[in-house]
Amino acid sequence: MSNSTSPKTVLSGMRPTGRLHWGNYTGALENWITMQDDYTCHFMVADWHVLTTALDKATEIKQNSRDMYLDWLGAGLDPEKSVLFVQSQVKEHSELYLILAMMISKGRLERNPTFKEQIRDLNMGGEISYGHLGYPVLQAADILMYQAQAVPVGEDQLPHLELTREMARKFNRVFGDVFPEPEPLVTKFARFPGTDGKRMSKSLGNHIEIAASPEEIVKKIKPAFTDPARLRKSDPGNPDICAIYTWYQKFMPEAAAETAAECRAAQRGCVDCKMKLAGGVVEHFAPLRERRAEFEADPKKLDEIIHAGTERARAAAAQTMAKVHDAMGIG
Ligand code: TRP
Repeated sequence: MSNSTSPKTVLSGMRPTGRLHWGNYTGALENWITMQDDYTCHFMVADWHVLTTALDKATEIKQNSRDMYLDWLGAGLDPEKSVLFVQSQVKEHSELYLILAMMISKGRLERNPTFKEQIRDLNMGGEISYGHLGYPVLQAADILMYQAQAVPVGEDQLPHLELTREMARKFNRVFGDVFPEPEPLVTKFARFPGTDGKRMSKSLGNHIEIAASPEEIVKKIKPAFTDPARLRKSDPGNPDICAIYTWYQKFMPEAAAETAAECRAAQRGCVDCKMKLAGGVVEHFAPLRERRAEFEADPKKLDEIIHAGTERARAAAAQTMAKVHDAMGIG
């Protein structure tokens, strides 16, 4: 286990459900990129996790995983600095999942608030698989496998972190100290608006992809939500409720103050304001698009990156499992 001077070990994961959008970027990816310099990072494509709620999408998972890697690499995750890997390629996760499943009660999993919310939102009625209920156990295996001390997550994942800690404690109590109890590093992000002003989310269709082409960016920004009370350019606007203004603050901060002032004074119309923003956003994401395109043009290199990261993850996983086997006297 690391001492106080060595960097903390971090693990986080994302489900590969399609190309990443601005909400994923500001809510997680951007934070991961800066963490690479201060922590020993493991970032995982959580492909098995997709099966828990979207079994019908199984055939899309592989392509989505590659797209996720491209978005990651384009945005600046660095395979030299961080271990980037695919969950399903490290079979040890399934073994640890089985073992941890013995460390938690069924009732405790049923009381998990994130689970209850998902059931409500997905309208799943009685059709809940055993794997879906046990999803936090798989997540605990992901985290404990790398002996992670810190896990960057959004607030919705805090109950899963608590469950992970409970499973780690139970294992340690029964078999001796093997697992550190991981701390959540809560990613603080004000809810990031989509094109309709509601929280950006793929399921609402109000998202803009981080790798969107300049044409797509313009096409999505043009009809986006602004202050609904501002009907004419001569009406003063309220930038505080305008998605465009939030995007200025994020992607063109140097132009934000002037934008707000001109909006309030009815000096700048929404159409001009949007076109100016589109130009800034195109520029903001240009390096990402270029890097992404380079990796996309070289599938063999991408294969090698995925393979190398997965090998590093496997080596770490094998070490943890050796400790687990030793502690339990089985396996
Ligand atoms: N459950 C996370 C989500 O839905 C993804 C995930 C899987 C994860 N395994 C993880 C996050 C381990 C942090 C640590 O977003």
